[in-house]
Amino acid sequence: MSKTAIITGGNKGIGLAVAKDLISKNYKVIIGCRDTSKGKMAQEYLGNNAHFLELDLSKPASVLQFVKQINTHFSEIDVLYNNAGLIYRDFELTEEGYESMISVNYFGAYRLALMLLENLHRSSGRIVQVTSLSMYLAREFNLDFLHSKTGFSPSSRYNLTNLFRSMFALELENKLKKTSISVATAHPGVTKSRQSRPYEVKKIKKSFYTYFSTNIQTGIAPIIQAIEADNVSAERVYAPKIFGFYGQPATMQHNKLVYNEELRNKLWTFTANELNLDL
Ligand SMILES: NC(=O)c1ccc[n+]([C@@H]2O[C@H](COP(=O)([O-])OP(=O)(O)OC[C@H]3O[C@@H](n4cnc5c(N)ncnc54)[C@H](OP(=O)(O)O)[C@@H]3O)[C@@H](O)[C@H]2O)c1
Repeated sequence: MSKTAIITGGNKGIGLAVAKDLISKNYKVIIGCRDTSKGKMAQEYLGNNAHFLELDLSKPASVLQFVKQINTHFSEIDVLYNNAGLIYRDFELTEEGYESMISVNYFGAYRLALMLLENLHRSSGRIVQVTSLSMYLAREFNLDFLHSKTGFSPSSRYNLTNLFRSMFALELENKLKKTSISVATAHPGVTKSRQSRPYEVKKIKKSFYTYFSTNIQTGIAPIIQAIEADNVSAERVYAPKIFGFYGQPATMQHNKLVYNEELRNKLWTFTANELNLDL
């Protein structure tokens, strides 16, 4: 029987490439996307087994509406791949008043995962959380001033959101130990995600990253493993084997802060209070 996967931000980049791969393996894929025209374009590009539903992770009402639609039309979700994210954004607040990278990369993933647990439970489903090599660059765990410009830089904030993504996944796994839901984490190394779009990109502006980033297939391989492997755990992260950049997928340690239980509990409690949402 075919499986059903949700991919957030599945309209381009890594999300779209993962969607394409899963559809080739007979999955039904729901792409959650904030822009209707991009979502429809991606759905058309992916074919009959793709379904687009509107989802803006920075807006609680949109997440709620998305979950309602999922529960109405898809009673058993096998995989939630928390992929959508903002990378190196300048300081900006969402309508809710949260800094945008914290809001989309971390709060949005937390909110969606917790709201879909009942559905995932029915199919002994799996949550796969994307994270990044940049989590290793996050040196400090700090929950002060998250939504103010104090101490903000696009790179340090992106790094922190990836540390939070990994900590969240491991804590979620611990909290779901007695359930049939599994949790995994994966990162794609540094990947030319612009190679994957539902339309032609005529000219890609070359940047520092263009020269050493890997092709999209190398990048998505660890994510596909995290989705498909029989026994997974969020204790380690699926990533390209050679320094997390190149080669076949393997599992590796997260940033050591991820293994600090006290910090994970602090982050969980902070998030649950902030979003008014807990298990
Ligand atoms: N590329 C890499 O080398 C790399 C490395 C490590 C980790 N990652 C992680 O992998 C994920 C995908 O990366 P990518 O390179 O494919 O990035 P991308 O091409 O910029 O794609 C990001 C996706 O997230 C969506 N998104 C952004 N804000 C959203 C919101 N508020 N609600 C719903 N969807 C939203 C985007 O939608 P729009 O098209 O509407 O903007 C897009 O579909 C990111 O979370 C990133 O942190 C990437």
